[in-house]
Amino acid sequence: MDIWQELEAQHARIGDRSILELFMDPKRAEGFSLHSDGMMLDYAKTNIDAETRALLVALAEGAGLEARREAMFTGARINTTEDRAVLHVALRAGDDAQIMVDGADVMAQVRATRARACAFAEDVRSGRFAGQAGRITDVVNIGIGGSDLGPAMATLALAPFHDGPRVHYVSNVDGAHIQDVLARLDPERTLVIVASKTFTTIETMTNAQTARDWMAAKVSDPGAQFAAVSTAQERTAAFGIAPERVFGFEDWVGGRYSLWGPIGLALMIAVGAERFGEFLAGGRAMDDHFRTAPLGANMPVLLALVGVWHNQICGHATRAVLPYDQRLARLPAYLQQLEMESNGKRVALDGSDLPRHSGPVVWGEPGTNGQHAFFQLIHQGTRVVPCEFLLAARGHEPHLAHQHRLLVANCLAQSEALLRGRSLDEARATLAAKGLEGAALEEQARHRVFPGNRPSTTLIYPQLTPFVLGQIIALYEHRVFVEGVILGLNSFDQWGVELGKELAQSLGPVLDGQASAVDKDGSTRQLLSFVQGHDG
Ligand code: F6P
Repeated sequence: MDIWQELEAQHARIGDRSILELFMDPKRAEGFSLHSDGMMLDYAKTNIDAETRALLVALAEGAGLEARREAMFTGARINTTEDRAVLHVALRAGDDAQIMVDGADVMAQVRATRARACAFAEDVRSGRFAGQAGRITDVVNIGIGGSDLGPAMATLALAPFHDGPRVHYVSNVDGAHIQDVLARLDPERTLVIVASKTFTTIETMTNAQTARDWMAAKVSDPGAQFAAVSTAQERTAAFGIAPERVFGFEDWVGGRYSLWGPIGLALMIAVGAERFGEFLAGGRAMDDHFRTAPLGANMPVLLALVGVWHNQICGHATRAVLPYDQRLARLPAYLQQLEMESNGKRVALDGSDLPRHSGPVVWGEPGTNGQHAFFQLIHQGTRVVPCEFLLAARGHEPHLAHQHRLLVANCLAQSEALLRGRSLDEARATLAAKGLEGAALEEQARHRVFPGNRPSTTLIYPQLTPFVLGQIIALYEHRVFVEGVILGLNSFDQWGVELGKELAQSLGPVLDGQASAVDKDGSTRQLLSFVQGHDG
């Protein structure tokens, strides 16, 4: 029996065992939680016991996790389908770090670019860099996917630290997006950052041109109010952005892992270089933990193993991310790209079919809003949705501490309700207390039953600071890495996005009336003709 089979057998043995009964062990909570630099992950409310955990850790060991982890941190070309190293960790490495790729230390370049980006951010913040009419009041980051979701999520998360110009994010090729953002801004006081690793992404290049036209209508030298972040410096030059405002990075930084470098420029401008440095330090602290803690006491590893248990072993196809932290409202969207673009693959590293399901569907919304929307299904639906709660012990609004207490109470109540549920007898007793009896009571009671025994984890931290945000994001990055290693796939390519891009290109000329739709299927032809019938 291999370890996967042992885990499946373990799952069959456990069946629907009560998670609540695991708490008969007074050490359950302590034994099934982990700490890293002031942050705690509590996974005691899952059906994982010591034996299951040992099997899961053995699964990670058997997948060669430790060697793969070292290979990543030391610059080996582990992204084999693109023949690249995977070194987003270099972007947050300390001053004394040395990381070799193809025999050369990459850190000097990383540090130089970081220093240049930070200096530019401070120039924008202080007014040393100005627009045609003076100080920059607004920054527009144009990018999509990893060139948008990370900085947009982090800018919102760090709102209490925001003391620079206003920062806006435009991603969608839908003209409505850029229209609604630019309509509120003064081009003479706006800086546009075009963020694109490849500088070819159609959405970004189209929006960049729209922004340039908008700027050119009022500003005599519009290119002077543009900056670019990209690996493709010849393309940024062709777009007319002067090299001193171009911030490069290397192809060993994946788009969805790029927030730590110059793709974070808009965030740097919002919160300043010092706060951005604290964010990097948080990521670095999680790197150190991930690299050194034993697998069974390693937060990213355990979070990944909980995920593998729920998805590949228990068969729960989705995972809800539920930050009880309004400023993490964009975290679920960010994690959708991080996790689903990384581990949504159907072939293993060697090209063979994946023997098990790939990563789960990730979705979520902040609490308490989600409670009034989809929690009904989480509590009483027929499918189990493992939930991941995130919670700060302290908010940033001391004068609203009573609201924070309500937020905390709600978060803890939800995981408790998922764990305990409410039995038929308890439902009956509640109804009886309200005066119902007989058939009327019986008719109502079953609707008020909560099966309970539904798993959740809670990541709890003192307060959402730049350092803590860095820890959280690095935690999830490494979790994705560990899950990818266990599943035996390449977490660092994204070939699955290509086909749709190619077909969109072929449909452009059809919509422009310059090509025929004859080779398209009937449904696509019908939709095209609907659009053409309503065009203009
Ligand atoms: O289409 C997917 C993708 O390649 C993502 O992986 C990436 O984050 C996004 O597009 C944007 O790419 P770029 O930064 O090159 O514009």
